[in-house]
Amino acid sequence: MVAVPDQLRRTSFAATERRDLWWVAPLAQGLMLAVFICYANWAAFQGRYYRVGGYLSPLYSPLIKPAWFPYSPALLILIPPVLFRATCYYYRKAYYRSYFLDPPACAVGEARGKGYRGETAFPLILQNLHRYLFYITLFYLPFLWHDAYEATWFAGSFGIGVGTLVLLANTVALTLYSLSCHSCRHLVGGNLDCFSCSQFNQTRHTLWKGASALNEHHMLFAWLSFFSVCSADLYVRLVAAGVITDLRLL
Ligand code: FES
Repeated sequence: MVAVPDQLRRTSFAATERRDLWWVAPLAQGLMLAVFICYANWAAFQGRYYRVGGYLSPLYSPLIKPAWFPYSPALLILIPPVLFRATCYYYRKAYYRSYFLDPPACAVGEARGKGYRGETAFPLILQNLHRYLFYITLFYLPFLWHDAYEATWFAGSFGIGVGTLVLLANTVALTLYSLSCHSCRHLVGGNLDCFSCSQFNQTRHTLWKGASALNEHHMLFAWLSFFSVCSADLYVRLVAAGVITDLRLL
């Protein structure tokens, strides 16, 4: 391996030979992420207007309301999904670039001091917990699918409203986001030396190919699912508060 001379390796902050608008993507992503994060935090702290009829905001699902907890029930169940998203490989890339400018973009100089060890030292080494957070948040999916089912019942009779479709779209987006996670690929196809050695391994290979195909679109699912969670909460909130009326389609 050829050693890179020090004078070539060091660049000043934001120095680059790129001539394109490299700063547009981190700026836009940072702004969009800030909007979603602010809205989700605000909605989680409200503690009201999260349920109406069969509709339940995904920020409050699964709904747990113990008598000893006087605050918003969302605060009890949101910690694993929030940490799951915060340690997601895609979001790491987005906020490292947009908020820490580390680096601001590919082939653009960063402001990095001596002794930087990235994700190999505390606190960023905690990002490695992502795999375990994936296992935990997998348990949320059946609850979300159950919520989508519950959203098809109106005073005991089956039906479909705009809210049903909003909640269903959100559940699909969150499922795709989870199944396209890098940790999902590892779960279904990792730690194998031979894919063809047994029927079970061949099945895992098939699942791994499916997870890999979804993984190619992980960034898209990351944005879609964050947008859908906030939109679904907003829709339920507006209907519950009486600001808008849910339209029955069926
Ligand atoms: S890598 Fe994004 S959710 Fe796992």
